[in-house]
Amino acid sequence: MKKELLIMGPMYPATLSVLEETYTAHKLWLAADRDALIASLAGRIDAVATSGTKGMDDATMAKLPNLKMISHFGVGVDSIDTEAAKRRGIMVSNTPDVLTDDVADIAMGLMIAVSRKLVVGDRYVREGKWLKGSMPLAESVQGKTLGIVGMGRIGRAIAKRGEAFNLKIAYQGPNKKTDVAWPYFSDAAALARESDYLVAACPGGESTKGLVSRAVLEALGPKGVVINISRGSVIDEPAMIALLKGGKLGGAGLDVFADEPRVPEALFAMENVVLQPHVGSATHPTRKAMGQLQIDNLAAYFAGKPLVSRYC
Ligand code: 8YV
Repeated sequence: MKKELLIMGPMYPATLSVLEETYTAHKLWLAADRDALIASLAGRIDAVATSGTKGMDDATMAKLPNLKMISHFGVGVDSIDTEAAKRRGIMVSNTPDVLTDDVADIAMGLMIAVSRKLVVGDRYVREGKWLKGSMPLAESVQGKTLGIVGMGRIGRAIAKRGEAFNLKIAYQGPNKKTDVAWPYFSDAAALARESDYLVAACPGGESTKGLVSRAVLEALGPKGVVINISRGSVIDEPAMIALLKGGKLGGAGLDVFADEPRVPEALFAMENVVLQPHVGSATHPTRKAMGQLQIDNLAAYFAGKPLVSRYC
């Protein structure tokens, strides 16, 4: 008999198909009455599949007394109350590694797009402005300093790409890494002062909320560019907008926002800002691999084996 699985929200279609074939899949987001579905399943559910937008809070865990495992689609687990999961003895898996390169690519893409004005240039051609004259010159990334907030898997992949672009690398994080030689700063403002680009590549959640603060952005300065491929919560978004407006911050390349998918409209008119709709991992091969890891973690759990990529 198929095991039962509660799925919290819409998923990558190929992943959902496999889960539907393997389990009796209860799709919470399609339920007319979400609470009634949870109540009717309560004692029967020991594993759930979730993702960034739906997450898993303590109150929902409380309604599923037999819950033992949360299989999350995504590397960032900030939408899951992991402290509650630990307290309740619930394992959490996530999908690291498989998305690292795609996310790092988007960070580089944003840096280059802001500095070399790729989006402005595209519009310049389409609007026929080139026929009337050359576009104003842009900035070069060559020889600049790339400060990375969070030297984890994605931070390292960005650093590697930065070196290939002749950038000097420096980083900030809770701990100095023993296996990298790049200059370390324990303080994000001190890193920003040395940086031309500041890339947020740290996890989201309470511990990094507002880490890229007004003071950090001021230290980055009128020529500095902030890039965010992490979580909107990491940057003080109102301060960033105010500094961009006032010319006290040079530019921004943003894939993530504090209140996605709502993006502050003040950013729309800024030519020195490039915006993306949270697409760091949004490629077919990567989303397929993330889904496979989510499937494999569930399979490992139901087989009584160690999870493939256990977060906690
Ligand atoms: C996904 C992400 O868009 O992995 C993450 O943490 O932010 C992205 O890869 C998201 O998690 C999908 O739920």
